[in-house]
Amino acid sequence: MSIHYATATGPVNIATLKYWGKRDKDLNLPTNNSISVTLDQSDLRTLTTASCSSKFEEDQLWINGTTYPLDTPRSIQVLKDLRKLRENVEIQDDSLPKIAQFKLHIISENNFPTAAGLASSAAGFAALISAVAKLYKLPTDNSELSKIARKGSGSACRSLFGGYVAWEMGDREDGEDSKAVLIADRAHWPDMKAAILVVSDMKKDVPSTSGMQLTVQTSDLFQHRIKEVVPKRYVEMKDAILAKDFPKFAELTMKDSNSFHSVCLDSYPPIFYLNDTSKRIIKLINLLNSAAGETIAAYTFDAGPNAVIYYEQKNEKYVLGMLHQFFSHLDGWTDEKFNPASAQILTDFPLDKLEKDVYSQGVSRIILTQVGDGPVETDDVLVDLETGLPKNL
Ligand code: DP6
Repeated sequence: MSIHYATATGPVNIATLKYWGKRDKDLNLPTNNSISVTLDQSDLRTLTTASCSSKFEEDQLWINGTTYPLDTPRSIQVLKDLRKLRENVEIQDDSLPKIAQFKLHIISENNFPTAAGLASSAAGFAALISAVAKLYKLPTDNSELSKIARKGSGSACRSLFGGYVAWEMGDREDGEDSKAVLIADRAHWPDMKAAILVVSDMKKDVPSTSGMQLTVQTSDLFQHRIKEVVPKRYVEMKDAILAKDFPKFAELTMKDSNSFHSVCLDSYPPIFYLNDTSKRIIKLINLLNSAAGETIAAYTFDAGPNAVIYYEQKNEKYVLGMLHQFFSHLDGWTDEKFNPASAQILTDFPLDKLEKDVYSQGVSRIILTQVGDGPVETDDVLVDLETGLPKNL
């Protein structure tokens, strides 16, 4: 069978200024600007082959060998937008094959365990859109593609870029100005590291989509956040990134995580994403910063209890030195990422006053990573060119 295919990757991004609230649910238009750091794809990425053929019968998605329907309104919209762009390309260049209406087989592999409980939809949509854009030979303006990713999942639009990324909320009703833009690439500030503490939690979180709807409808504090807090913080955080001012960046990041979780608590009924383990991690970071006499680490939490801790390479010995005291039993401390001999505990860190048994509870894995690049095209082929199904089934 004749199969057209192309492959690309998509990274995870973790917001430092949170997107929380939609002004248009269908177009996924946000109530505020947001900012994120894209993480290194050698640790966290989705690899996707997009393939199409006149013989395929339906649009289908496989993630790590399991099939998922592509029939949600959001996926339908994303594929519709991509097909429309392909039609324009075909009209402009008559020599190109007419593949816009062929059904798609999208085959994805994540390099991180699904059990890690990390939201992978941003990496997934970024990889899917980048792979289809390559397959369809679309003009690769990443901000344009980010508008399509946004319709899949809001935060996914920021994964179309590497480094430090803003999502400009825009003000048009049709959403055409609500897109991701680059603040600075990875190379501008390559020393940014991230430690992800995956917090084990049995309880099902309130999904972001419904959580943010509830906040918009019921929280009074939310109005203050979007009108007063975020606009100022957005400018300050961009400036801190451009100036590579870590203490400022870190303070704004932690304050914004706190602000986001406050509007969740102010929703009615309240939404709790942080659990006791998350709160102990916040305390450890605060004690570390006090012991250092300056802000050397920042925590941030999304719609769940997992902690992401940002720090600069030069302080790794103190940040990982402290975390290793409590979490050395976890998977993720590879020799390549961490050298126990270089670890240091700041003299003012009150290690002997903290109950080690209590503080080391509740975390199931650590992922040590750093700022990374945006989607890349690769030569991998995940589709079996005889059957049109995943090779690794
Ligand atoms: C807390 O992008 O998952 O992670 O647009 O409904 O798909 P939908 O929501 P989603 O929300 C992410 C919320 C957040 C903050 C952020 O990433 O900015």
